[in-house]
Amino acid sequence: MRQTLIAGNWKMNGNSELLASFAAKALPETKAEVLLCVPNVLLSEATQQLAGSGVKIGAQNVSEYGNGAYTGEVSADMLAAVGCSYAIVGHSERRSLFHETNEQVADKARQALDAGLCPIVCVGETLAEREAGEQERVVQEQLQPFADFANLVIAYEPVWAIGTGLAATAAQAQAMHAFIRGIVGQDTQILYGGSMKPSNATELLQQEDIDGGLIGGASLQPGDFYQIVAAA
Ligand code: PGA
Repeated sequence: MRQTLIAGNWKMNGNSELLASFAAKALPETKAEVLLCVPNVLLSEATQQLAGSGVKIGAQNVSEYGNGAYTGEVSADMLAAVGCSYAIVGHSERRSLFHETNEQVADKARQALDAGLCPIVCVGETLAEREAGEQERVVQEQLQPFADFANLVIAYEPVWAIGTGLAATAAQAQAMHAFIRGIVGQDTQILYGGSMKPSNATELLQQEDIDGGLIGGASLQPGDFYQIVAAA
């Protein structure tokens, strides 16, 4: 039985007050694992503020390199030392805005694993790729470097659903998750991401191959985020 993971992705948002508002609200009763991926400058404070709350802390990115002369980078070792248990890698914003390649994303995931962090590898097609019927080919290509990875979480995030308010339908998401399942096997958790919110979380999370969510906008409010946790 795969565990459910509800992961928030604050992106480049949030501050100490937002952390405090999460710390002040009790986590609903749940069997799901709950994670917040916050900006690096808030990681240390997040692990302290949310200690004992049942919410784990993760990073949104990790360097593809180990410690050394890489100005501006943050290594997987550093993230582990500050109390992270997960790191998102290859988010579509990093692939498109910062030109990360599949190979770099794989190097990042490898660094994370070596440091004892579980990588959450994001994959997903653009609207143009879906309209051209290319979504499976694109996702398969994005998954290719991970064929020999034993321990990772996949997040399927169709780019056209991220931050648009227009989530994939449960049927669209399930179809892609089943396709991904065929590649990564029964034991790997596959999260759905892209405009997941309290109003659509229950239906999405009920799908056979959807093992949780990666939640952007709706993770910026403890009320909304914990409603999704309660739906899981
Ligand atoms: P969204 O973002 O929930 O705001 O669509 C999801 C993500 O980018 O991880």
